[in-house]
Amino acid sequence: MQNRPVFMIFQITRFLRFFATGPSPNSGPERVTRTLTGTNLTFGHSRVRHRSYSVPDNPTDSATDPSSEMKLHNKARCQVYPRSDKQRYPVPDEKVQWSVPFPEYAPLDFTSNSVLQMPPWADIDFRTAQTNEDTSDSCQEPKWNQLDGKTNRRSHMGRYEVVDKVPRNPVGRTGICGRGCLGRWGPNHAADPIVTRWKRNDKGQIVVDENHKLIAQFIAVQRRDNGQWALPGGMVDAGEVVTMTLRREFGEEALNSLEATEQEKKQIEASINELFSRGQEVYRGYVDDPRNTDNAWMETVAMNFHDQDGQGVARFKLHAGDDAVGVQWMDLSHHLELYASHVDFLQRTAERLGASW
Ligand code: BGC
Repeated sequence: MQNRPVFMIFQITRFLRFFATGPSPNSGPERVTRTLTGTNLTFGHSRVRHRSYSVPDNPTDSATDPSSEMKLHNKARCQVYPRSDKQRYPVPDEKVQWSVPFPEYAPLDFTSNSVLQMPPWADIDFRTAQTNEDTSDSCQEPKWNQLDGKTNRRSHMGRYEVVDKVPRNPVGRTGICGRGCLGRWGPNHAADPIVTRWKRNDKGQIVVDENHKLIAQFIAVQRRDNGQWALPGGMVDAGEVVTMTLRREFGEEALNSLEATEQEKKQIEASINELFSRGQEVYRGYVDDPRNTDNAWMETVAMNFHDQDGQGVARFKLHAGDDAVGVQWMDLSHHLELYASHVDFLQRTAERLGASW
């Protein structure tokens, strides 16, 4: 690398020209957004249409084609259900799909006590309520596949089936039924911000890999529940728009650990607002999450916020929080091992940025 700075700068300039007519210190992100708006790029099997920052509620207006995302889930078939000692009924790959007969399939019905205590983020167990002939309004069956009061029961994957009064996981069997530790029957909606920058060396020069591809970095947080590294995402509250969730979760999960003076914090706030005003959706749909069950599952909208010129969020110095839960800039690479399907979202991000993977 010692003898390559000139070559490296040439590569960077070539890369920037690909997106813009010429790099200038303060115009990077804007140019990228403007140039990409309305173009079609191919990510894996799906066509992704880049557009300016807005998250449509209507699944048919989604940036990803959910039907092309229906791949086998694996983490959702992990042997022991998270935060419990409950064993899943083993489901071989070829029996995941509901259309394949599996007469001996006898999954355990499990809903954790914390969910049964009916915190505000959880549904009531309307099955038990009905058996008890409790006819009060609050015990009525949820309105599936639609907005049910403030609760969004629509799936990004299209219409889900409701069998024996409960929603059916659109990807297939998981070896456990009920809600496990998820609050909602059917889709449980989350949002994941993917905040990226270009990796730079001590001299501030952008670093490339052995194939001369620029290396991107993203902000990762360590989850409290299992210690795994993940995107700083979180659940979409009832009635909340996804853009709000992204901004809120990023603040709560990643920025609380920032070492900064009050004045610096104000600048940071401004950088975040600027960055979050133009994100690009990289994924919307089902998440292969270990908490999924046959009747309750995670879905997310993942959006990339890229600090192209490194003048905003990219300058944040992150450090582990007091409670030993970490926050850090991590290189995008195929070696990453992260929570749920977060690696898939990052691979799409690397493709979108044309970065090393
Ligand atoms: C996490 C998100 C994740 C989602 C699905 C949520 O609890 O906060 O980052 O994408 O679960 O796994």
